[in-house]
Amino acid sequence: MLQKATFRAHPDIALVKYWGKKDEVLRLPINGSISLVLDALETVTTVAFDPSLTSDQVMIDGELEVGEQSRVLQHLDRIRHRALERGVLSQPCYARVVSVNNFPKSTGLSSSSSGFAALTLAANRALGLELSDRELSILARQGSGSACRCIFGGVVEWLDGDTSETSYAVPLDMPKIAKIRDIVTIVSQDRKQLSSTAGHNLAPSSPFFAARQELLPQKIVLLKQALQVGDFTAIGELAEAEALEFHSILLTSKPNALLLYPGTVAVLHAVRRLREQGVVAYCSMNTGFNAHVLTLPEHEAQVIATLTTLPEVQKVIPSGLSKGPGELQQHLF
Ligand code: PMV
Repeated sequence: MLQKATFRAHPDIALVKYWGKKDEVLRLPINGSISLVLDALETVTTVAFDPSLTSDQVMIDGELEVGEQSRVLQHLDRIRHRALERGVLSQPCYARVVSVNNFPKSTGLSSSSSGFAALTLAANRALGLELSDRELSILARQGSGSACRCIFGGVVEWLDGDTSETSYAVPLDMPKIAKIRDIVTIVSQDRKQLSSTAGHNLAPSSPFFAARQELLPQKIVLLKQALQVGDFTAIGELAEAEALEFHSILLTSKPNALLLYPGTVAVLHAVRRLREQGVVAYCSMNTGFNAHVLTLPEHEAQVIATLTTLPEVQKVIPSGLSKGPGELQQHLF
């Protein structure tokens, strides 16, 4: 057996979202995006390549991953191919992978972003590939687009790029928002009805998609300015409007997708009521019903108290910004 490696990576919440691809196979996004990587949510993944295996053995949250359609197995092939190309593997070799999330997957909390980041990092180390951060971001992107951002921590921008080599994420130094809080708000643990992969393909069928594309470059400029000066109101307004715009694209795609649950809408109303009382609280959602409520440390207790009184809210997970993924010495097998 080659070396065993374990990494922890964190998922993110995009403030300007990646929605739609210009190259499906390479997962090149139609637009750039910016996200916050969250420290309270995590995926831990152990990888070991083992010449005695006759197939890849992948277990995620206790469930075996099987079938040619599995993006995890496809990603292992991609990494193996890279290792053969670079000569760190002399012949194809299967891997054992065990991965656990500390939050519910397939509920709109972006477990594939942290999952593919942790898998890429652990496989890179296990094989001794020694890829650079940029190469890791490019590789992770091909497993799940948003994973390219989770190779880093804090605030991250994904430069859309026109080729595989130019589509990667970079960390943004934004000290003025280091204290931002995200209250991850769980309203259901159902498996969401639409995968992001399928959703990206539907996006251009919305009549509003072209208008969105036209306005996105300016939105990114405004968001970066707000992040730089630490203007939480502007950040929150942009993030919430973006989440609603993104769900409007889902609602008007053909076929359309209604992913918001009554609980999601209850959270959206609750943050509006909080703002009327002068509390900084803004909501964002990914492809799913669970919500992220952005706030500040001084308002966190009030935001949590309000959210937890909503009958639809099952659980809140208060989070800050992650310092980035890390290697662990304790393995999962
Ligand atoms: O990376 P994917 O294919 O899971 O897509 C992510 C899509 C959104 O979460 C809705 C937006 C984003 O930028 O993370």
